[in-house]
Amino acid sequence: MSTAVLRVLMNGVTGRMGYRQHLVRSVLAIRDQGGVQLADGSRVRLEPVLIGRDARKLRAMAERHGIERWTTDPSEALAASRGAIYFDGQVTPAREASIRAAIAAGMHIYTEKPSADTAAGAMALARLARDAGVKSGVVHDKLFLPGLIKLKRLVDGGFFGRVLSLRGEFGYWVFEGDWQSAQRPSWNYRAAEGGGIVSDMFCHWCYVLEHLFGPVRAVMAKAVTHIPHRWDEQGRPYDATAHDAAYAIFELGGGAIAQINSSWCVRVHRDELLELQVDGTEGSAVAGLRSCRVQHRATTPRPVWNPDVPAAEKFREGWQEVPDNAEFDNAFKAQWELFVRHVVEDAPYAFDLFAGARGVALAELALRASAEGRRIEVPNESPPTRPSLGWDSGRWPSR
Ligand SMILES: NC(=O)c1ccc[n+]([C@@H]2O[C@H](COP(=O)([O-])OP(=O)(O)OC[C@H]3O[C@@H](n4cnc5c(N)ncnc54)[C@H](O)[C@@H]3O)[C@@H](O)[C@H]2O)c1
Repeated sequence: MSTAVLRVLMNGVTGRMGYRQHLVRSVLAIRDQGGVQLADGSRVRLEPVLIGRDARKLRAMAERHGIERWTTDPSEALAASRGAIYFDGQVTPAREASIRAAIAAGMHIYTEKPSADTAAGAMALARLARDAGVKSGVVHDKLFLPGLIKLKRLVDGGFFGRVLSLRGEFGYWVFEGDWQSAQRPSWNYRAAEGGGIVSDMFCHWCYVLEHLFGPVRAVMAKAVTHIPHRWDEQGRPYDATAHDAAYAIFELGGGAIAQINSSWCVRVHRDELLELQVDGTEGSAVAGLRSCRVQHRATTPRPVWNPDVPAAEKFREGWQEVPDNAEFDNAFKAQWELFVRHVVEDAPYAFDLFAGARGVALAELALRASAEGRRIEVPNESPPTRPSLGWDSGRWPSR
């Protein structure tokens, strides 16, 4: 079988996500395994071209990983690569202009979320890509995590009966940066630089809810800045102007209510950094990034409220682990492979720039709901969809 080569221009590879998840764990891992296998059994190899602002870092990275091409001049790389994939993992505010230039140069687009820093910008990019006839993809990594794949399996298998509610806890303590360095870049805490937990996390909640339980119909949210002063990578103090926690309620098309706390100011007393509890008439599940436990109605205990005596029931022990029943690859790599197949052989793909724009739009609505202290309905009624993983999309915002 033949092996084709697909060039991948990668911008923002010196960053946390760009380097670890996209370059090393996805594109280079695909290179090392001999490429992406297509439906006819042939393979397509990926040829990364590193793009960035710092020649020293790029050269070192290229040498470390045996990558032939790198450049600090994106336009030069674009001009030489029509029909290639342009990947963007830069800081969010740099994204929209870079993707516009890549679309104009005839690239297919694969990008980190949020796909732009405003909903209007995200929507404009989606339309531009469609009109230019190029393929597009936005990172939806959470859907490819083992815990969420198992949760989706439970939904598809009818385990829950009627889904009533979902409670999500996401977060951990991000150090302020004075006596211990912060685990996240300081731009995340500056509104003017694209920071803020709402734009960061609500893109994820949008597609997780949409693909598992139904599209979001209305949102209430309270976004806050709990910690107003932090210290940056150089140890300099700065004002943290972006929200570092958001408490939201989403009404879903299927009738369920989802309530998700997102916070960089909580100490973890959970098994995983993200936990989603789903309660349905027939059973419940608690899914994390990797694990998923269930309790069926037949094994549900019968607690009786009595604070005068210590709880006799070991509630956690009444849950059962959902088996893997599959081998799970890195979530980012799995989505890269789907996207490459979409570009090369037109395999179906749901996670395009329109899907990305829905996430950005939801974040924007949530911020408005918070600022105005009210519930906001999502515009454009769309039918409740439960598309299977990877193959379909909801319709908001739509073409
Ligand atoms: N999918 C996920 O789970 C996930 C997780 C974290 C971050 N992200 C997204 O990934 C993107 C990058 O986040 P990160 O945490 O890797 O950030 P980072 O700060 O570690 O990396 C940012 C990258 O952008 C480059 N950059 C910085 N300032 C720039 C500028 N002014 N112009 C052009 N490039 C610039 C940096 O050199 C670096 O390569 C963000 O859009 C973020 O929302 C996604």
